[in-house]
Amino acid sequence: MISLQLASLAIPALLTVADARSVPASSTFTPIKWSNCTIPSPGFDCGTLEVPIDWDEPFGAKVQLGMLRQKALKPEKRIGSFFFNPGGPGDNATIYVEAATEVFGQDMADAFDIIGLDPRGVGLSSPIRCDPDIYNQRVPLWPSNQTELNAIINKNKALGESCYNMTGPLMKHLDSVSVAKDLEAIRQALGDEKLNYLGLSYGTLIGQTYAELFPQNIRSMTLDGNMDHSTDQISYLTVKTFTYEDTLYKFADWCSTSTSCPLNGTSADVLKVWDDLVAHANKTPIPAPSCKASGSCLEDVTGWEIQYNANSMLFIESGVFETWPKLGLALYEARYKRDASLLATSKATSPSSSAFEGTAISCLDWFHPQPNLVNLKNKYNLATSLFPHVGMGDVGENHCMGWPFPQVNPEHRANIHGTPRILQVNSQHDPSCSYVWANGLQEQISNSTLLTRKGNGHTSYFLFGESWEIINAYHVNLTVPADNTFVSS
Ligand SMILES: *[C@@H]1O[C@H](CO)[C@@H](O)[C@H](O)[C@H]1NC(C)=O
Ligand SMILES: *[C@@H]1O[C@H](CO)[C@@H](O)[C@H](O)[C@H]1NC(C)=O
Ligand SMILES: *[C@@H]1O[C@H](CO)[C@@H](O)[C@H](O)[C@H]1NC(C)=O
Ligand SMILES: *[C@@H]1O[C@H](CO)[C@@H](O)[C@H](O)[C@H]1NC(C)=O
Ligand SMILES: *[C@@H]1O[C@H](CO)[C@@H](O)[C@H](O)[C@H]1NC(C)=O
Ligand SMILES: *[C@@H]1O[C@H](CO)[C@@H](O)[C@H](O)[C@H]1NC(C)=O
Ligand SMILES: *[C@@H]1O[C@H](CO)[C@@H](O)[C@H](O)[C@H]1NC(C)=O
Repeated sequence: MISLQLASLAIPALLTVADARSVPASSTFTPIKWSNCTIPSPGFDCGTLEVPIDWDEPFGAKVQLGMLRQKALKPEKRIGSFFFNPGGPGDNATIYVEAATEVFGQDMADAFDIIGLDPRGVGLSSPIRCDPDIYNQRVPLWPSNQTELNAIINKNKALGESCYNMTGPLMKHLDSVSVAKDLEAIRQALGDEKLNYLGLSYGTLIGQTYAELFPQNIRSMTLDGNMDHSTDQISYLTVKTFTYEDTLYKFADWCSTSTSCPLNGTSADVLKVWDDLVAHANKTPIPAPSCKASGSCLEDVTGWEIQYNANSMLFIESGVFETWPKLGLALYEARYKRDASLLATSKATSPSSSAFEGTAISCLDWFHPQPNLVNLKNKYNLATSLFPHVGMGDVGENHCMGWPFPQVNPEHRANIHGTPRILQVNSQHDPSCSYVWANGLQEQISNSTLLTRKGNGHTSYFLFGESWEIINAYHVNLTVPADNTFVSS
């Protein structure tokens, strides 16, 4: 979700608490194997646990999960283990634990063993492998005729088959239900503590799935930047493109008056630059010279690719990880220097690239659109008539047409009952996970509080503002903000 560039802290190894904990007699799991790891840096515990690839075949083939742990810095204040998932899908959690005290703050680091579990198929947990050459073939994002539709389907099918060849049956079991069961296995293998969990973005789907399956086993859970997995295809498309367009307007307002945006002028001017670039690049792709030099991205950029790739550049307005100034610069360079390098589509540069994980995971959790040209054009017409600037936006489901593995986690209402109070956090203008979804999900959880952040951007925790403090206070002290609370950071 966010790429972290924090210098990792040299954290002293704390070995005052015994590693071995009793595993409940009822558990079929062996204890987690911990070792002193030197990767990413000395001072952390690396843990592994084997679980079934297919939870419906508990005695079948196994997959190894890997996790990184920073133990509670003040063992006398220790509450339990705290799990973090950054979303993606496919982003690894371990990198955040490397900088745990900075990222989660002193109180959290004192009181919790902070565990970054890479979800199955990602990072330390048996990462999937696929053929980068197939991945790097360019096909249209949305087809205008049957030839283009066939090209999309064929590419997806070939890519999926290459992953199966190089990875095996794990490809069919990367969905959020499998990951939620993995979390439960780890919780049991650690002892009898209840789960403390913070999930961002796609991590909210993992969290809500866990809450649906194991409501009694939670102590605290925050869902930041919420997904609603109950919506049908048209609602999904509409909400996803709406929230992107809505945030693009906010960006244009900001850019028009900001000294950190080289496109300043009026918001109408900013949107016109955007529209002209998209239209122009769809006729003649705009060169990306830095990609040509580095080989790490496609050498030019189409209009649809601008619409798809710019979404993540709307994630953070300002602060340590800000992306809005970068989007302003990217659009400026594309428009005035004919250099669209900053908007280019990344390539996969090796079979172990993390580029494959998003598609591999989401196509198991979300519908595969019908490979039907009339139907796809109807959707295209819907999106472009309501949201003309972003069009089909970052809707990635076309990557699932022809994907050789069926959806295993169908959309459904999450009936979440019997949990302690769950904390949901969402900004009003989130380019990826709409405030609509946060409200929709809240109706599916019988005991939750929705904290609203006034403002823009995707997720709130890493702004290190009021939301961060409220979330940390909730996990440490179980204090929940009053209903209908608004914060501005
Ligand atoms: C980790 O290293 C410490 C100090 O070198 C040692 O005491 C401890 O037994 C090691 N733990 C494991 C699990 O290897
Ligand atoms: C986790 O992600 C970061 C940043 O994307 C990357 O540098 C690191 O190598 C990844 N770690 C693993 C274990 O894959
Ligand atoms: C399909 O559309 C593409 C892009 O507009 C065009 O280049 C191609 O000739 C079309 N193919 C057919 C068979 O119509
Ligand atoms: C996968 O392996 C099969 C059998 O070896 C082979 O026929 C097929 O071409 C491979 N597919 C891809 C996409 O690598
Ligand atoms: C507009 O952007 C330019 C270049 O970044 C900057 O020099 C100028 O001060 C900005 N103007 C306003 C009104 O922000
Ligand atoms: C919600 O959870 C809190 C504990 O976090 C509990 O005190 C309260 O009774 C629960 N409310 C409902 C309606 O279940
Ligand atoms: C938890 O409560 C204690 C006592 O009121 C307070 O000092 C501490 O700052 C709280 N922790 C967090 C993370 O807010």
